[in-house]
Amino acid sequence: MTSEAPSECYVYVTLPGETEAVTAGRFALATHRHGVAEGRFVYGRSYLARANAVALDPIELKLTTRTYNTVAFSGLFGALRDASPDYWGRLVIQRHLRQASPSEMDYLLHSPDDRAGALGFGLNPTPPAPKRIFNQRLDLAALQTAADTLVATNDSNTAGRRNTHDLQVEKLLLLGTSMGGARPKAVIEDSDGLWVAKFNRRDDAWNSARVEHAMLQLARACAITTADSRVVKVGGRDVLLVKRFDREKIPGGYLRARMVSALTLLRAEDTYQSRNKWSYVLLAEELRRVCAEPQHNAAELFRRMCFNALISNIDDHPRNHAVIARNQDWCLSPAYDLTPATPISQERRDLAMICGDGGRYANASNLLSQCARFLLERDEAQAVMADMQAQIKATWHATARSAGVSVRDCEKIATAFVYPGFDQS
Ligand SMILES: Nc1ncnc2c1ncn2[C@@H]1O[C@H](COP(=O)(O)OP(=O)(O)O)[C@@H](O)[C@H]1O
Ligand SMILES: [Mg+2]
Repeated sequence: MTSEAPSECYVYVTLPGETEAVTAGRFALATHRHGVAEGRFVYGRSYLARANAVALDPIELKLTTRTYNTVAFSGLFGALRDASPDYWGRLVIQRHLRQASPSEMDYLLHSPDDRAGALGFGLNPTPPAPKRIFNQRLDLAALQTAADTLVATNDSNTAGRRNTHDLQVEKLLLLGTSMGGARPKAVIEDSDGLWVAKFNRRDDAWNSARVEHAMLQLARACAITTADSRVVKVGGRDVLLVKRFDREKIPGGYLRARMVSALTLLRAEDTYQSRNKWSYVLLAEELRRVCAEPQHNAAELFRRMCFNALISNIDDHPRNHAVIARNQDWCLSPAYDLTPATPISQERRDLAMICGDGGRYANASNLLSQCARFLLERDEAQAVMADMQAQIKATWHATARSAGVSVRDCEKIATAFVYPGFDQS
């Protein structure tokens, strides 16, 4: 921790049906000897006394008077870590603060209020009124340029040199930094509400915006619930807009859903050492525990796992799955960040998460091996998978073309779909 960083803050939450936040509790972060960080959280008494109080997450921070503490995840409780910026947002904040390594508390306090989920953080005992200052659809061109600049200066490692233009663009990008993920992105508002804008990088192998848009459509055709998306042209380039499913615009403000990643549900970290906990099978168990409709959600997770295997989405790590709560009940969030990959091997591809007795192997019999944990009979699971396989094989190309993916890009991604090893016994 840097010496100036505050070590405590208040945690705010926007309750179901409300558009303004209330104070839920207090979070403190202390660094002990040998650099061990310990986080503490306690709900406020007045919060606990509310009839409509909700827990900040479904597993770790139950609504009680006790003081919770953790030394996992650098002292950040999972729900707080999920509300904190990830790779892209951290990069923007580092630039803004001119610090190579701001503290976790700096990251929490410096990211604006458009973060995923319903939480907010601040130094005041009472939450500020929602600012509702968002970049607008019209700002997309400037945001795209800003993202390009940040990617370029980060790649060429010229962190020290910044001109006025850089400073302006950083200010634009700061709105939206709390969204996770590594790809350049921003949050924008239009008359329908809030969108995550994902920019193509100049070094992308194909038009990512159009390909991701196509994958969301293909997933929908496979009976998967997905985030809404569209592609818009900005300065001659495509930008993917994904509708925020954790915000709903209503007259006078935004409703917010709480949101917790699968990383948190699995009590796992983003590190290689933690990968033994990255598992669809374990995630299905957690969904059965926390979701109001366990059967429905476990079956949906099974479909997503099969879909990822069938499009070679090997970036299906636990931050790319989440549960949300629009009211008291938790459920699997709509699917997002669906991207095909084209590894050289035609025999074996591995998902990022364990998917059966054979580990991460994206293979039909492996995916079926633990179907009971997804509350599916074997013949049911087999039918789901066979339908999806047929659907993807028959329609991926037409879906991609109608989403505006070029013939050339279709050729580039062709080997992602139903790769030969999928059916190998
Ligand atoms: N439509 C959405 N609504 C709300 N939150 C979202 C949405 N899409 C993504 N997110 C959140 O933003 C994060 C980053 O988005 P993602 O599409 O995964 O970007 P990246 O490609 O950089 O990983 C996700 O991990 C998730 O927490
Ligand atoms: Mg992602």
